[in-house]
Amino acid sequence: MSTSSFTAVVDRMPALRREVAADPGAHRVLTGERPTGPLHLGHLAGSIVERVRLQRSGVQVLVVLADYQVITDRENAGRVRDHVRGAVLDLLAAGLDPDRTTIFTHSAVPALNQLMLPFLSLVTEAELHRNPTVKAEHRASGRALSGLLLTYPVHQAADILCCRADLVPVGKDNLPHVELTRVIARRFAERYAPVFVAPEPMVTDSPEVPGLDGRKMSKSYGNAVELGATAEETAALIRRTRTDAERRITYDPVARPGVAGLLSAAAFCTGRTPDDIAAEIGDGGSARLKRFTAEAVNAGLAGHRARRAELAAEPGLAESVLARGNATANALAGATLAEVRTAMGMDYRDLTSGAVSPARCAGR
Ligand code: TRP
Repeated sequence: MSTSSFTAVVDRMPALRREVAADPGAHRVLTGERPTGPLHLGHLAGSIVERVRLQRSGVQVLVVLADYQVITDRENAGRVRDHVRGAVLDLLAAGLDPDRTTIFTHSAVPALNQLMLPFLSLVTEAELHRNPTVKAEHRASGRALSGLLLTYPVHQAADILCCRADLVPVGKDNLPHVELTRVIARRFAERYAPVFVAPEPMVTDSPEVPGLDGRKMSKSYGNAVELGATAEETAALIRRTRTDAERRITYDPVARPGVAGLLSAAAFCTGRTPDDIAAEIGDGGSARLKRFTAEAVNAGLAGHRARRAELAAEPGLAESVLARGNATANALAGATLAEVRTAMGMDYRDLTSGAVSPARCAGR
């Protein structure tokens, strides 16, 4: 993605915010998560808090738990059902309300996946190979580029367009996908009929909380504070984080990634700045910083964890929320697919099987 278009999106934000605030109920946001593991502090800070804010402001919110995308860069889906259930619990504990927000999985919405076929015909292989996020994720995976990884931006376009979302929150990573979604909406209109409104990307001020060691927060790096972990597990993880021997604590993400990672987590959980916390720790060294961070993170997550435990203890609750979300998504995607088929001249709904007997079809 060129920087200039990211800048253009940022420039558009104040006006877009005003438009949404003027009539929040007229807007629909789609966001997604790959259920590859338990959700962590990075997810909460980077996207979940913003979803809750949008929901509270009256915008319609849909969250896809992108289970089919789990297999873009790995061999199998692992314990995907556990991760889906965990994600539902975290989303609810964070404040998403199933009466207002739709949470669904890819695999439960056949019409969404079917939309990918006509959409694939609207993009070229070269365009997909140029997608910077596809390139980055391919490199990070260390594997051969699968057809699904190459085409996953098209799948994401199907997520967005199947439920007619007009807004998609993005970091820099997802902006190329939203741009491709706009291209697909436009090309579909040129070839068939204007079925889709092109969605707009929304850049949010969500803080990027790095992992405890300063790298990207990710379960695979062992640097992630899981939202559903216990206070003891969290304290142990924080104690294990590699820092340095310098006693004076300063916030320097480049030279002192571990110290900065701990300060960032503590800062997010206390609403303070990393520099402010570093000044308070002063010459206390890593031991004092780790005690402070463990307390701050556990205190910051205590409410979330208590609500999550309560929800988890209710048998069938996460499952029924998901069943409801899947039903809503199926209704939306089914209606969209019907329009797409009509536009493409593939509407067979008037056919019945009663008119001609199979014996006559057989010829004699
Ligand atoms: N690809 C996104 C990610 O890995 C998840 C996702 C799937 C998504 N479908 C989406 C995000 C639609 C926004 C809109 O983070």
